[in-house]
Amino acid sequence: MPAERENHLKIGIIGAGSIGSTIARRLARHGHDVAIANSHGPETIGDAALRTGARAVTAAEVAQGVDVLIVSVPMNRNADIAEHVRSAPESAVVIDTSNYYPMRDGSMVAFEQGVPESVWVSELFGHPVIKAWNAITSQSFDAKASTPGDPARVAIPVAADRDADRAVAMRLVEDTGFDAVDAGALAESWRQQPGAPVYCTDRTRAEMPDWLAAAEQDRVPRRRDLAMTVIGDYMNAGGDATDGRFLVAINRACYS
Ligand SMILES: NC(=O)c1ccc[n+]([C@@H]2O[C@H](COP(=O)([O-])OP(=O)(O)OC[C@H]3O[C@@H](n4cnc5c(N)ncnc54)[C@H](OP(=O)(O)O)[C@@H]3O)[C@@H](O)[C@H]2O)c1
Repeated sequence: MPAERENHLKIGIIGAGSIGSTIARRLARHGHDVAIANSHGPETIGDAALRTGARAVTAAEVAQGVDVLIVSVPMNRNADIAEHVRSAPESAVVIDTSNYYPMRDGSMVAFEQGVPESVWVSELFGHPVIKAWNAITSQSFDAKASTPGDPARVAIPVAADRDADRAVAMRLVEDTGFDAVDAGALAESWRQQPGAPVYCTDRTRAEMPDWLAAAEQDRVPRRRDLAMTVIGDYMNAGGDATDGRFLVAINRACYS
């Protein structure tokens, strides 16, 4: 990466939902050159993404010439954006925020066989990816950003195979207001998937290594499905699915 770009990176984001928009807002505020795209077109991207200076562009444009490309679309839409990811420079650091939940979609069966989600995404794109920003609820991501040094600062795990890529991703996670924790290789990223002890449980940097180590691979998908049953039941009974405290409490109870 050119030295002059080390401080302010050219960043593309595909996906302008709750996660992509919050990332865009925070990284643009940090002085990065941020462009963001969705599937419906730039005119449909709102203030939540753009109010600190990010630009809305088309999905065909968003990856061109970037240092970093962040993909933040539902897991079953990654195939639709693969061509855009492939238009990024070979040197681009590609970060994947996606999570898999069972959707009776045959193409997703790889995860049931134990392939980590982001390994599957990396193979789909034909480009190395880093897994980051997947293990925090949109509510905590929106509300709990804080400054470095705060002992209660929420941490976000980052899994990657290349040290240089990991360093870039960890620095950007910090720029969004959270402590970044090295979670090891992408093959180990099942430790931060839905159902794992660090998944959307708002752990701190000090707590996270023990919880990453405590994950048990065969139990992770079972616990994910257990939590989804509890959350579904709560919502069917009229519960507020936007209550971030409830989600973190359920996740801690089911995954720890
Ligand atoms: N919500 C959470 O709490 C949370 C937390 C951590 C990670 N995640 C993961 O992060 C990812 C994004 O989550 P989210 O909650 O932000 O999703 P979301 O609110 O549903 O937003 C998804 C975004 O992806 C865009 N998109 C879908 N298909 C596209 C395509 N073919 N080309 C370009 N853009 C496309 C959508 O644009 P259009 O509306 O124009 O189609 C939309 O802007 C998911 O994989 C999710 O599992 C979610």
